[in-house]
This record gives sequence, C-alpha cells and structure tokens, in this order.
Amino acid sequence: MDYRVKSATVEQTREWGKQLGARLRGGDVVALSGDLGAGKTAFAQGVGESLGVKGSMTSPTFTFQQEYIGRILNSGMGIETQTETEIRLIHMDLYRLQRPEEVEVIGVEDAFVEDAVCLIEWPEIAEDLLPESRLDIQIIGSGEAPREIIFRAREHDWELRLKDLNILGEVRRIQ
Ligand SMILES: Nc1ncnc2c1ncn2[C@@H]1O[C@H](COP(=O)(O)OP(=O)(O)OP(=O)(O)O)[C@@H](O)[C@H]1O
Ligand SMILES: [Mg+2]
Repeated sequence: MDYRVKSATVEQTREWGKQLGARLRGGDVVALSGDLGAGKTAFAQGVGESLGVKGSMTSPTFTFQQEYIGRILNSGMGIETQTETEIRLIHMDLYRLQRPEEVEVIGVEDAFVEDAVCLIEWPEIAEDLLPESRLDIQIIGSGEAPREIIFRAREHDWELRLKDLNILGEVRRIQ
C-alpha cells in the first residue's frame, strides 16, 4: 500500500521525516529515492531529529555512510513505564557507487542489524541486498516545486505503523 503526502517546503519534508522517525524500530531499513535535490537528506535530517540525534546531519555523499547515536522510545502501558533504547542511526548515500560489487565492499549489509536504523539515499544499486521488509520512500519533485512523498509499505507491519501518518492535519492519500 502507498501513502502519498505533499510537502510544499523543506521544513515540511523534515516534518514528514520526523513523523517516520517516531515510528521506527531497531533493524528498520528505509530506502530513500528521488532525483538530485529532491529532499532525501532533508527527510533524513527529520528522522534524526525525532531520534534525538545531536548536532547536524550532513549529506554522506563522499563518505558513503555516517553513523549517529539516537534513541527510540519503548512505549509501556503508562508514561511512567516508558523507557528509551539507544540506537545507531546509519545514514548512507550510494550515489557515487558505480557497480553492485562495490556495495558489498563497503559493507552495506553490516548496517542491517537490530541495534541500528538504516536510511539509504540512492539505494537502487544495492537493491538486491536490501531486506524485503524495508520501507521504500520516494520523493517526487525538485527545485522549488512542491514535493510528493510516497511511503511504500511493502509489508503489513509497515501499513500498521504508517496508518496514522499526519502533519498539520493534512489528510494523507492512500493508494
Ligand atoms: N518541499 C521541499 N522538500 C524538500 N526540499 C525542498 C523543498 N522545497 C525546496 N527544497 C530544497 O531542495 C533541496 C533538497 O536538498 P537535499 O540535499 O535534501 O536533497 P537530496 O535529495 O538529498 O539530494 P542529493 O541527491 O544530492 O543527495 C534543499 O536545498 C531544499 O531547501
Ligand atoms: Mg542527499
């Protein structure tokens, strides 16, 4: 199932990233597709903000991957039973890779572990290695044009987690 939302500004794209961040768990892999300058890094920054990453997240275009420390809230029955788990946020950008073999050399799969959340910009070259259970996000549009952000829930579990996705009262479209 696809959830399609609109973003008129970079701040709104970050806000959608925050919305996703609040729904993430250890072991999640999120593939972020879209043209150059679509807003993939802006979206990833929103995820980082919601996970409480300190400092700014920059584009890992030249380092391929950058790791941050964040935290995930484990909701208990009441506010007093909520606990936090530390989590690694691994932000990748595979734009500069040219051959699928290089994906294995840089060890992309090492990021698909339970104590990490992995966000991958330009994931296409690694497609065969990505877990089936990943969430695919596509950002359509670039420049100053408004964006459409598509959350593609490949698994029922993602459908459940995304079903109350909403910012500023915007009604999401489901397809
Ligand atoms: N609605 C919008 N959502 C996101 N970014 C927007 C929007 N409107 C304008 N922008 C601008 O588009 C640019 C998006 O840059 P960003 O680095 O996030 O893109 P990217 O998809 O990561 O690009 P790259 O493929 O180079 O990594 C920013 O300069 C941002 O200010
Ligand atoms: Mg980027």
